[in-house]
Amino acid sequence: MGKTREKELMSRGKRNNSGKPRHVAFIMDGNGRWAERRHLPRVLGHREGAKALERAVRFGVQEGIPYLSFFAFSTENWRRPAEEVEGLMKLFRQTLSDKTVELAEQGIRLRFCGRIGDLPADIQENIEKAEKMTSSLDRMQLIICMNYGGRQELLDAVAKAFANDVSDLDERSFREYLYLPDVPDPDLIIRTSGEMRLSNFFLWQASYAELYFMDVLWPDFDEKDFIDALMAYSKRKRRYGATEGF
Ligand code: IPE
Ligand code: IPE
Ligand code: MG
Repeated sequence: MGKTREKELMSRGKRNNSGKPRHVAFIMDGNGRWAERRHLPRVLGHREGAKALERAVRFGVQEGIPYLSFFAFSTENWRRPAEEVEGLMKLFRQTLSDKTVELAEQGIRLRFCGRIGDLPADIQENIEKAEKMTSSLDRMQLIICMNYGGRQELLDAVAKAFANDVSDLDERSFREYLYLPDVPDPDLIIRTSGEMRLSNFFLWQASYAELYFMDVLWPDFDEKDFIDALMAYSKRKRRYGATEGF
């Protein structure tokens, strides 16, 4: 697992707390290509992808990262063949019912982000149960972006603001209308599979996120890759528009 690099990373974190991200978000891309390269159905790539997600969560807990989020299904992913969409929903159902208790036992709070109301009714029920069951846990927040689109989130926020007759809209008050207003913006967004775009992910929240793109396909993403991304992050200088050291 590259113990030396992990140690280097840990000591870096201890020396300089700002070198450690509070919130890491993943655009889990490349499941389909992973399967196609093996002449397997794409759904099997998604299954392997679910295992990679589990690995990433395990490592995130070990590293003490307080928030991890994962882009699991976009509002545009409905455009895929029905068989793939159905396969993804089935996998989502299964993972949710198999893993919620395990996550709860580890003290992980499970939250969902997206147009949840447009998902199949049984999935909505399971989501509600999982969120309720883990709502008081605080070792880490695990956020699954499901039927999520950044533009849709912004439109939903504007609609809610209008409905509330909001007149004094500023960044702080607008944030209250996002899906998960209390979750801090991601410090680091990791996208696998070599594509260098956000694909409608966290448009508001990504304003000052550090972006890290890697060629590895999501089902192959492992602890070493996670460490590489954290190392790269720890060397970035974040300025937020100011000059350094200001
Ligand atoms: C990401 O993998 C998972 C989802 C979008 C649900 P893809 O299925 O997009 O994999 P590629 O990009 O086709 O390889
Ligand atoms: C982004 O990946 C969505 C998820 C990872 C869930 P896509 O594979 O859907 O993005 P594009 O189509 O390559 O932009
Ligand atoms: Mg893709």
